[in-house]
Amino acid sequence: MEERQISAAVIKRLPRYYRYLAELQNEDLERISSEELSRRMGVTASQIRQDLNNFGGFGQQGYGYNVEYLKEEIGKILGLDHTHNMIIIGAGNLGRALAGYAKFENRGFIVKGIFDNNPELIGKKVRDIKVVSMGVLDHFLEENDIAIATLAIPKEEAQAVAERLYAAGIRAIWNFAHVDLKLPGDAYVENVHLIESLMQLSYRLNKG
Ligand code: NAI
Repeated sequence: MEERQISAAVIKRLPRYYRYLAELQNEDLERISSEELSRRMGVTASQIRQDLNNFGGFGQQGYGYNVEYLKEEIGKILGLDHTHNMIIIGAGNLGRALAGYAKFENRGFIVKGIFDNNPELIGKKVRDIKVVSMGVLDHFLEENDIAIATLAIPKEEAQAVAERLYAAGIRAIWNFAHVDLKLPGDAYVENVHLIESLMQLSYRLNKG
């Protein structure tokens, strides 16, 4: 499949297409028209056609989209056709909640290690994963093929830990600490801030 330069806005929408297609597959639907997909997803059919045309269309006039094929192709674009090993830094409330969420694995994101600098937490388990000391982080990264590091530590600690991860070869950081990390251009940081989502709700309430 030929790939053109895809806008960030389209990439951002792809996981949602993927989720809907997975649901359609669970309903044993073989194909779907862009109109029906549009009705279900609450976006216009022309938006769907435009988005998917970025990747060569996938659809056929008068047939619509083949659900399994489209899901598979979007999965490939999102890199879901292979697994990604990840670690979690910070075994506090959030780190443990993330580590305990087994469904990331269904999508190929495998938690391989949890790290913390609090000696009281070392050796504690989340599912079958033991919390280990930050002292062994670099060695662990040398020995294991880790693609993604999750930061669930206080914001004051996040920049230094991110730099250490970068120096050890990590290029993808899933950042929950409320700080904008400064890393070289080949590092990719995805920030997740629940509070910003709540602020959007608050804005809507205020307007209403
Ligand atoms: P917590 O205090 O329960 O856990 C933080 C953990 O990080 C502790 O176990 C602590 O020992 C460990 N830690 C501190 N410095 C460290 C370092 N240098 N290296 C390794 N481990 C270190 O806090 P909680 O509630 O789990 O939150 C963690 C972070 O995530 C905070 O920055 C918090 O603001 C943020 N957070 C972000 C959310 C979001 O939506 N982005 C939602 C909830 C929390």
